[in-house]
Amino acid sequence: IQSDLNLSWAGAFKQITDAPRKADSNKGMYGHVLLIGGARGKSGAPSMASLAALRTGAGLVTAAVAESILPEVAGVTPELMTIALKEAADGSIDSDHVDFDELLDRMTVLAIGPGLGQSLAAEDLVLKLLEKAKVPLVLDADALNILARHSEKIDGRGRAMVLTPHPGEMARLARISTREVQANREPLAREFAIRHQVTLVLKGWRTLIAHPDGSMAINTTGNPGMAKGGSGDILTGIVAAMVAQHPDRIADAVNAAVYLHGLAADLAVREQDEHTLLATDTVAHLWRAFR
Ligand code: APR
Ligand code: MG
Repeated sequence: IQSDLNLSWAGAFKQITDAPRKADSNKGMYGHVLLIGGARGKSGAPSMASLAALRTGAGLVTAAVAESILPEVAGVTPELMTIALKEAADGSIDSDHVDFDELLDRMTVLAIGPGLGQSLAAEDLVLKLLEKAKVPLVLDADALNILARHSEKIDGRGRAMVLTPHPGEMARLARISTREVQANREPLAREFAIRHQVTLVLKGWRTLIAHPDGSMAINTTGNPGMAKGGSGDILTGIVAAMVAQHPDRIADAVNAAVYLHGLAADLAVREQDEHTLLATDTVAHLWRAFR
């Protein structure tokens, strides 16, 4: 919003997206994303988030999902590592059987929410992860719907928290209507980010990114072809992978992630059409966005 800020961000941006991977690189330098989500019948969301994280350059990506959907999630691409988590009777992940120390060991960033569901078991899982995880968290979808019931737990001071609500999820977080969210996007996002000391990505046309220091960015990429289920799950994976690669520069990493997500979709619709664009087509065009 402020021009000096835009200039410094433009520089930071280039550094992040143009940075060549060092010749003597190894995968340990690019972070390990752990994606926790999915429930019986909801394999698509964690699959797409995991695929996007791999395509964004994370060194390793592991998806930890309800055991009944493990075959589908693992099948998305052989580079993906998976962990099967026991599930409750309703098909959501059963937190009582999760060994959190083992699960969280050596992870760089944790992304939680796509396809998780909002059962009591899922709620318990999210609260335990918030308590135990010491690494940056990316919270999306049902993790946000669950957190809306525990707003005192939304606190990025211990470790960074990035929240990626669409307007309906933001309405639940802020306990107002979606219409009120859309009428007050900028002040709402800024105040929320400052109050909770989190990075808030308020999605939709011209996604807003509000940072804990009160600074804000408005994204200029993206198109209505993205107004389809799956687009948000892809963004979660991109954000997590950018944060995994740049854990000391979370603001730049998140700004770049949102920009690249929209740019990849814009490049994809040059070749096809907004009607036909699939969220996974956006992933397939990420390489062009990086270029
Ligand atoms: N212009 C630019 N970007 C857009 C546009 C647009 N007109 N429409 C959507 N997008 C982008 C958003 O900015 C965001 O990054 O597409 C993404 C959509 O994300 P979500 O709304 O989270 O969608 P997604 O999660 O994929 O699917 C909907 O959310 O409400 C839940 O349970 C519901 O499964 C459903 C899911
Ligand atoms: Mg979503």
